[in-house]
Amino acid sequence: MGNGIAHVFAQGGHSVALIDISADSLERALATISKNLDRQVKKEKISEADKEATLGRITTFTSTEEGVKNADLVVEAATENFDIKKKIFETMDAHAPAKAILSTNTSSISITEIAAVTKRPDKVIGMHFMNPVPVMKLVEVIRGYATSDATTKKVMEMSQKLGKMPVEVNDYPGFVANRVLMPMINEAVITLHEGVAGVEEIDTVMKLGMAHPMGPLQLADFIGLDVCLSIMNVLYNGFGNPKYAPCPLLVNMVTAGYLGAKSGEGFYKYTTGSKEIVVSGMFDR
Ligand code: CAA
Repeated sequence: MGNGIAHVFAQGGHSVALIDISADSLERALATISKNLDRQVKKEKISEADKEATLGRITTFTSTEEGVKNADLVVEAATENFDIKKKIFETMDAHAPAKAILSTNTSSISITEIAAVTKRPDKVIGMHFMNPVPVMKLVEVIRGYATSDATTKKVMEMSQKLGKMPVEVNDYPGFVANRVLMPMINEAVITLHEGVAGVEEIDTVMKLGMAHPMGPLQLADFIGLDVCLSIMNVLYNGFGNPKYAPCPLLVNMVTAGYLGAKSGEGFYKYTTGSKEIVVSGMFDR
């Protein structure tokens, strides 16, 4: 999601330091941002000059120490793993200016726990963007236990200036977005597992019946089944309530490497370069 976040900030007129440990990933991120800006040029939402100016505001870094040196606000969007985030926040805390706000795009890791590894927990906050970031209006702004009013106010105002709609929530497992979304997706997987209906039938009910742009199983493929499973486990462990137990079918699919669009197959099968989605052979029987 990092490329989408960099895209939105750069388009909003901010100088962006895009950081990754891999130079190849940075190159791929710039190519994705350029491709997504091309969509906006083609739709006449921005001009070619706007596109060039946006790209011109992004500088890439393979060193966190260097990248955060002059930051006012950092949005961390690394892998959803607490130990990785802990290391990144310790480094950012040591090298970013004392006044900088350190935010995380985590979809479910505790903001309070991340803040606790820094010496500025009042300036640590969640900025949870939704995919695809340039399109989705929401930023779920998550206050950790020690996040100050001043930090929250600044992040709410900044999100609005980016053309997004920020919503302030408190730090409990899954926050609001994933506490509501993931049990719906999990229930769709249970419904499939129990043979109540097929993949397309479940998705069609939710698309045409509830006006969702994607059905829950297609959305799960789009988010990544490993991400869905990991968030269900955060809810299950965080609340200790069996209603959040992940469906065994979801667990099996992740164990077998069927992770959705990114692995080429989940509930649907994806062919590179094609927009067509076809139900996976595993469920087309
Ligand atoms: N970057 C920039 N623009 C993009 C884009 C991208 N990656 N993908 C699509 N778009 C733009 C298109 O250019 C198009 O723009 P216009 O409206 O100006 O024409 C618009 O988005 C719609 O795109 P398409 O016509 O190609 O496709 P679509 O109508 O099928 O929409 C979709 C695609 C926006 C992804 C839509 O299917 C959708 O809203 N799906 C649900 C998305 C969702 O629920 N996201 C949240 C996931 S949960 C999450 O992110 C957080 C978490 O913690 C798990």
